[in-house]
Amino acid sequence: MSYDAHFRVWRGDASGGELADHTVAVNDGEVVLDVIHRLQATEATDLAVRWNCKAGKCGSCSAEINGRPRLMCMTRMSSLPPGETVTVTPMRAFPVVRDLVTDVSFNYAKAREVPAFVPPPGLAPGEYRMRQEDVGRSQEFRKCIECFLCQDTCHVVRDHEENKTAFAGPRFLMRVAELDMHPLDAAAETGLDRKRAAQEEHGLGYCNITKCCTEVCPEHIKITDNALIPLKERAVDRKYDPLVWLGSKIRRR
Ligand code: SF4
Ligand code: F3S
Ligand code: FES
Repeated sequence: MSYDAHFRVWRGDASGGELADHTVAVNDGEVVLDVIHRLQATEATDLAVRWNCKAGKCGSCSAEINGRPRLMCMTRMSSLPPGETVTVTPMRAFPVVRDLVTDVSFNYAKAREVPAFVPPPGLAPGEYRMRQEDVGRSQEFRKCIECFLCQDTCHVVRDHEENKTAFAGPRFLMRVAELDMHPLDAAAETGLDRKRAAQEEHGLGYCNITKCCTEVCPEHIKITDNALIPLKERAVDRKYDPLVWLGSKIRRR
């Protein structure tokens, strides 16, 4: 079965733009990206849209549908209120390149600021067996498809461009948490304190646990509960642990 839907799609570039109205045919079972492609094939042949897998795995088709950050390829038309206009806009937290395409290089810069895993010196292959719960924790975080919807939705940067310098965002704080909780990461032996870096360099304190990042994650990663809150707890424990405090005083002498 096919029906006509009313779409409003943002058209423009870095200098400005506006919503364009379209009536477009929709077939049963289609997702928003199908409709955007039909628009490209018919009325709006120069519409810019980024996509790749159409299977929720490449993280390219992120946009805002009726104001909510979502993957266009994973949003079924049947999940939207019937008969109502569907508004599609680019991710608001990042600069627009053109139409629905945004410049997400902020995220790549933040990724580069997180130092990589440090293998323990002298550990031979097979000498250490990871516990299943440590494996499971990393595996959850590694489901990330880098769609940056969590980065887009977090109010710390969404509403405050000025915070972008100091705040890595949920995706990359999650990366710091993963490395800090990894039983084999030997960063501390190279002088890198990941807990202190989380607070002082990646802006962990800006996160006030609103959990909006978790709500929009298409991989259903419990970003706040499993990464950000434990990282906050570990950072605070370290700060107020009397032995750690004493150790830092002695080391400073
Ligand atoms: Fe996307 Fe989830 Fe990864 Fe954030 S954590 S970038 S929302 S997959
Ligand atoms: Fe932002 Fe997620 Fe924290 S939305 S405020 S990073 S819980
Ligand atoms: Fe790959 Fe949507 S096209 S996630």
